[in-house]
Amino acid sequence: MDPIIAATHADPYPYYAQLRANGGLVFHQGLNVWVASSARAVAAVLAHPDCHVRPSHEPVPKAIVGGMAGKVFGQLMRMNEGERQRCPRLAIQPGLASIDAVEVNALVAARLITPGAEGLYKAMFRGPVCVVAALLGFSPAQGRAISELTGDFVACLSALGEQAQRDAAHVAADHLSGYFVELLDDPNNQSALLAGIRQRFAATSGDAEMLIANLIGLFSQTYEATAGLISNALLALIRTPSLHSESTPIDDLIAEVQRFDPSVQNTRRFVAAPCEIDGVSLNSGDVILVLLASANRDPQLNDHPDVFLLDRPERRSFTFGAGRHQCPGQGLALGIASATLHQILAMKPSLDQLKWHYRPSLNGRIPLFSDCP
Ligand code: HEM
Repeated sequence: MDPIIAATHADPYPYYAQLRANGGLVFHQGLNVWVASSARAVAAVLAHPDCHVRPSHEPVPKAIVGGMAGKVFGQLMRMNEGERQRCPRLAIQPGLASIDAVEVNALVAARLITPGAEGLYKAMFRGPVCVVAALLGFSPAQGRAISELTGDFVACLSALGEQAQRDAAHVAADHLSGYFVELLDDPNNQSALLAGIRQRFAATSGDAEMLIANLIGLFSQTYEATAGLISNALLALIRTPSLHSESTPIDDLIAEVQRFDPSVQNTRRFVAAPCEIDGVSLNSGDVILVLLASANRDPQLNDHPDVFLLDRPERRSFTFGAGRHQCPGQGLALGIASATLHQILAMKPSLDQLKWHYRPSLNGRIPLFSDCP
């Protein structure tokens, strides 16, 4: 086991506990990275101004620099520090935070979920992006096309991607950008979310390309992480049949699943200047693997962290990050996941007829289902 294999291991949590017992921030020789595993170390790294989201010598991964996907990547707030992060964030965060739960429920309910593993796949991956697209004012047909393009685009964000996927990602980034050029040009757009974002963005920066890149970023941030939240919740129901009951409050289930078995297991930081964190001296160029999922199970963060508690009092979680890059889509993601799970369970699916495996990934924990033969 190592902290990367752990992300898609059947049960990585005893291993994370061992890492925490050996120190919150420890160098891993095999991976050549520092590993932050305790809640204290994870919080300190995410809060530190010298721990950046990209290495300073490679702001855009070499494999995609020069193409359209690289151009979008280079402008994402998620992949920047300083003004290039703060400015789009100031424009986008308030709108995401004030999305109406009733509207989200209605958008999820309007989508047809078909039975079986293929229906689940679409509900997990395509559905959430379609909801975000609808909130921005795209039509349902555009939303479906956009969700497919988003799948192609995010493939380039993974280090496991191959050249053919990177080629497809450049094409997808180009098409997604085209969709937004048209949307922003449409005088009949009714989206309150888009109107607010545009207004706030115009007040801080007039850079249309940066706006479009960060609107594409809303799709790419939604795509895998929300799929994983939905599928990890289904897996919790399969593994613990007592939870699979009409009386289980779905919102509470989703809230505990995101803490207990998160779809985003880790993130990375790159040290930009010599600094000391949690008593450890770090040098410029050092890489830190930040184990969000391990911090969630730290007894310093939550009492009895290995117990799955629907009504956990004062639940604390690093699943959505912390500090200046903390996920601005948390409420929306939880709302979409709850509404989607409601819809799936209303179909009375035969969960015992499903097999699953984790989708290969260095940081995402996303069960993929298939029908038992
Ligand atoms: C279960 C679903 C989700 C999870 C677990 C998740 C998790 C995260 C995490 C951990 C980060 C911070 C990464 C880091 O600091 O290294 C992040 C950032 C971000 N997320 Fe989410 N996210 C989810 C869904 C969404 C949704 C639905 C949206 C928007 C529609 C969204 C938008 C963003 C954006 C824009 C950022 C970058 C923020 C910044 O850099 O300032 N996320 N997310």
